[in-house]
Amino acid sequence: MSIDISVDELKRKLASGDDFAIIDIREEGPFADWHIPGAVNLPVLLAMRMNDWAPLQAAAPQLPKKKPLVMVCNQGISSRKAAMVLQPMGFDVTSLAEGMNGWSGVHSEAPIDLPGTSDAVVVQVRRNAKGCLSYFIGSPTGGQSFVVDPSADVEAYLEINARMGYELTAVLETHVHADHVSRARELAEDANATLYLPANERVNFPYESVSDGDTIKVGDFKIEVIDTPGHTGESVTYLVNGKLALTGDTLFTDSVGRPDLEQGDEGAVEGAKMLYVSLHERLLKLDDKVIIAPAHTGAGIPFDGKAVCAPLSQVRTASELLDLDEEHFVPAIVDRIGAKPPSFTTIIEVNEGKRPVPSDPAELEVGPNRCAVG
Ligand SMILES: [Fe+2]
Repeated sequence: MSIDISVDELKRKLASGDDFAIIDIREEGPFADWHIPGAVNLPVLLAMRMNDWAPLQAAAPQLPKKKPLVMVCNQGISSRKAAMVLQPMGFDVTSLAEGMNGWSGVHSEAPIDLPGTSDAVVVQVRRNAKGCLSYFIGSPTGGQSFVVDPSADVEAYLEINARMGYELTAVLETHVHADHVSRARELAEDANATLYLPANERVNFPYESVSDGDTIKVGDFKIEVIDTPGHTGESVTYLVNGKLALTGDTLFTDSVGRPDLEQGDEGAVEGAKMLYVSLHERLLKLDDKVIIAPAHTGAGIPFDGKAVCAPLSQVRTASELLDLDEEHFVPAIVDRIGAKPPSFTTIIEVNEGKRPVPSDPAELEVGPNRCAVG
């Protein structure tokens, strides 16, 4: 039997609630940065790389012997060595093939109910490790579908589309992303769909430009474009049938978008001011019942089939930042801006079309999402 376990197999085990332990052998810093929910840290990676098994062997008596272990590192190489050290000691142990790099691409689906829109199919496609959220939306009566902010492999969306029997006619981006390689161009090309982006002077590939007040029709959906700059200059929100607000990285369910990834540290104050206006003049003026469905969440997402979204009535009270007036909001945002996402400048250049899309985007994308200020 192979000592490796695939990303899909681990995903299945987590989703079905199997009893096992995940032992992450990376050092404390990278582990604290991001890890698989429930993983225990045993920081022996540096020793394993030097072929020094002693720290692992010394820690082995503390590892659970009664349940299967899944060892995890960055790429699945040192964790495999660790599994091979532990196996002869009597442990039922496997190693996550491709490690956290492979885990970064794992995704799952969760349905969203739209009150009063019973014929719509709304699926949140989530990259559980990265916290990236995207949306597949289809209408049985219209027969057409569209995707917003695709961040998982394009196959994920094409497969849902084929399963549901729609014609995928539109791919929409809320903004130029900085924390993941956008799959929008590839998906639009593969599906022969129209690619919509907010009007901007950043990208150098062709797209259908939309701006405030525009309406996109897909089947019997009416998608209104609302300008919501701040996180980036071109950021928009898409309001679907007046009921579902796809807010990109402007408004999350418990926090707001950071304003410094496009404009830099020196542009953060100006960005925070724009964000304040977008929130208070636009999004917070929507109806309380509108579902806020963002492009990200800060934490890893469990395989629970529950969409990360909330009615605006709930989102209004979820972050104290939304209670502040502009004078206090702007410095609070700037003070709370955290570390920038790894490789974000390279990712932006890829998403602007100024660099080729890498053959393995996971290498650029590795690490947690850092688009929010909470
Ligand atoms: Fe973003």
